[in-house]
Amino acid sequence: MIITGNIEALQEAKKTLRGTIGFVPTMGALHQGHLSLIQQARKENDHLIVSIFVNPTQFLEGEDLNAYPRKEAADIKICKLAGVDILFMPAVETMYEKDELCIGAPALRAYVLEGEKRPGHFDGMLQVVMKLLNLSSANRAYFGKKDAQQLVLISQMVKNYFMDVQIIPCDIIRDENGLALSSRNVYLQGEEKQRALSLARSLKRATKLVMAGEENVEVIRKEMLRVLEETDEVEYVAIVDREFNALERVEIGNTIILVAAWVGKPRLIDNLWI
Ligand code: PAF
Repeated sequence: MIITGNIEALQEAKKTLRGTIGFVPTMGALHQGHLSLIQQARKENDHLIVSIFVNPTQFLEGEDLNAYPRKEAADIKICKLAGVDILFMPAVETMYEKDELCIGAPALRAYVLEGEKRPGHFDGMLQVVMKLLNLSSANRAYFGKKDAQQLVLISQMVKNYFMDVQIIPCDIIRDENGLALSSRNVYLQGEEKQRALSLARSLKRATKLVMAGEENVEVIRKEMLRVLEETDEVEYVAIVDREFNALERVEIGNTIILVAAWVGKPRLIDNLWI
């Protein structure tokens, strides 16, 4: 495995690759969720590039940029074992100039839900993903459905900028109790781990209702909020179509149900695609 943080070295290493390139961008602190993306990309491509870069432009003032979990040595081991060909780990100065061109996230879709409480987050995220996709020259790039809004916005950027890369959505990976895996789960203490499960439970409740024929989003939201009483604060429960437009009735095959809530220190998100 080639490990580099240098753009020229990355370009040189890519020259030796023949065939398709799969790419998994990450911010490190790799867990089973990342590993499943890496394994899928490994299977579906001749070569595999992974990046680890904690991107400052997608953190807002006062967010956990400095405290964001960093586990470089363990991450390198995981990538080696998973058969990664190139691990790209750039420094901030390598990725950004002081006064540079910015990508503007779309005004409607990027400023609701995750974007409402984190204005600017998606601009920074898209900016770095554009850079990383260009640097990787990937044929396919893999993103988890857990960050549903991120996934939808990246797909839109690729479409709007006519980028020659296929975005592959990957299923949410959960622990044995059903908690959606996230690097921020490490902040959960003691009984908070149990209370955190109410996010997944609320989505299970929604599934049951939909399977029983319930289509009215207000009825589903109300039931979910009841389950979510165990959290410290619910930020949103939303039922939208695959383009993030609000729905009045669930449309099977075109609906995402999303939840964001605080449990102890971390803010957790989870969702369900139906
Ligand atoms: O989902 C993430 O880890 C990040 O938002 C990403 C896509 C690596 C961009 O920094």
